[in-house]
Amino acid sequence: MKKAILLLTAVAFMAVSCNNNSGNSTETQTESSAAEAAAEEETTGNEITLNAGDDMKYDLNEIRVKEGEQISITLRHTGKLTKDAMGHNFVLLASGVSLADFAAKAIQAKATDYIPEGTNEVIAHTKLIGGGESDTIEFTAPAKGTYEFLCSFPGHSALMKGTFIVE
Ligand code: CO
Repeated sequence: MKKAILLLTAVAFMAVSCNNNSGNSTETQTESSAAEAAAEEETTGNEITLNAGDDMKYDLNEIRVKEGEQISITLRHTGKLTKDAMGHNFVLLASGVSLADFAAKAIQAKATDYIPEGTNEVIAHTKLIGGGESDTIEFTAPAKGTYEFLCSFPGHSALMKGTFIVE
């Protein structure tokens, strides 16, 4: 963020110092590259917030990270319903695990908040939360590849799922 502000300051300075006919194009180019740098910082950032409400949806269906990066994911339940009625979690599945098969097994695991005990099919998961709650987990991004995530509360993965891409 500090970097982006410095760049913007530089742009403003150039706009003032090159206040003639050739100044305009330089200003435009510098502005667009500063915007690109800021956008890249946002999409590859290692602190991710995922929101889900009573409408049974995540606000992100794709998360991109870099291999080996320390990831922090905060799941926020923005709704009002309890975790028994509208529980949400974030479960990142290991490579090659079928989302449908995992969701079917998870339904049987109510006692452990829908995470099958001793499973080796999960890379990381938050706890199951209800309206107004949040949970943050930290883990290291796995090997490059495409992974899937879901909410393992019964029935939710039909809508609550997404792709976790490690670059
Ligand atoms: Co859910």
